Amino acid sequence: MIQIAVLGYGTVGSGVVEVIAKNHDSIAKRAGKEISVKYVLDLREFPGDPVQDILVHDYDIILKDPEVKIVVEVMGGINPAYTFVKNALEEGKHVATSNKELVAAHGAELLAIAKEHNVNFLFEASVGGGIPIIRPLNQSLTADEVTEITGILNGTTNYILSKMTDEGSDFDSVLKQAQELGYAERNPEADVEGYDACRKIAILTSLAYGQQVDYQDIYTEGITKITETDIRYAKAMDGAIKLLGTSKSIGGKVYCMVAPFIIGRDHPLGSINGVFNGIFVNGNMVGDTMFYGRGAGKLPTASAVVADVVDAAKHEDTNIMTIWDPNKMILGDKDEFTCKFFVRVKDATSKEQIKTAFGDVQYITAEGVQGEYAFLTDKISEKEFEEKIQSLDMICRIRTAF
Ligand code: HSE
Repeated sequence: MIQIAVLGYGTVGSGVVEVIAKNHDSIAKRAGKEISVKYVLDLREFPGDPVQDILVHDYDIILKDPEVKIVVEVMGGINPAYTFVKNALEEGKHVATSNKELVAAHGAELLAIAKEHNVNFLFEASVGGGIPIIRPLNQSLTADEVTEITGILNGTTNYILSKMTDEGSDFDSVLKQAQELGYAERNPEADVEGYDACRKIAILTSLAYGQQVDYQDIYTEGITKITETDIRYAKAMDGAIKLLGTSKSIGGKVYCMVAPFIIGRDHPLGSINGVFNGIFVNGNMVGDTMFYGRGAGKLPTASAVVADVVDAAKHEDTNIMTIWDPNKMILGDKDEFTCKFFVRVKDATSKEQIKTAFGDVQYITAEGVQGEYAFLTDKISEKEFEEKIQSLDMICRIRTAF
């Protein structure tokens, strides 16, 4: 038997307890030993809940208990999660976490501490909810050099954009639904402004290249400016608007960005809707691979956390090697990032003006949209686009992945 403690009894924490209870026997078989939750740490009381008897409010009880071999951190946020996790690793306890903020900010350091103490710091649930992506990057795609990772990495925004597209729902009411379903962050600004996806692409890129990518260095745009009219145009282009996190290795540099893109329905990520996430990884030997599943929510996220608990139980005396050099990678300049830009202009803008600025472009009209029209540029760099657009009075622009 192996005893664990769960820090945080929110959406994911209660999911972890539920998964371990429900799949107790099959989990025990796979782990090679029974997994038992000895403590749940939370500031709140849960009268009538089965965890009432194992609930503690003082972390030291867990830290000082030698029977606790694995700590599950599902509190979220940097503090006190960082201190708790660091202390647990230093005490020789394994840690499994779903906390992408923590992993993006301190992943390299915590992995080093884990190695030093011959334990494991595991974070499968920090990216893509229930989708296996961390382990495949660490353990499966090791014969490859990764050339691209592009993903729909945030369930809340994909849910919002899908509902806006399919049902014409308004932004605020769909966000509320996503919160009720337990998909959104405590502060949903992290979802809708792209910060959550930014931390996730930072983690994936750090793992893919074995070196720290600071999320603060990644250009990030959210979905709050996307309107119903943008969605109409995307449909007219037989596409959909998706918040993508992308990193590409080109000519020895890695370019990283989070932004809404219009992508074709035939794009590998074009048909991924609702809370589902999809992560496209290209390796120079394997070619294209895709990882797909529920990117948020109680049980999918808990499933990934418990899988890490099983892995820790199987490697109780072994540190699983994960390469993540803490020296920060200098990312390629955002100005050099290239794509085709979708641009909306008022009717007053002439096609001659557009031709003078961008040459021959593809014009787009959308049903029910009046007083304006749109066009799609050729593939150009961000810098070139910014220079050329100066001469036009644009309504908005969205990057595309056509
Ligand atoms: N708020 C996150 C999302 C939760 O919507 O994807 C999972 O990380």
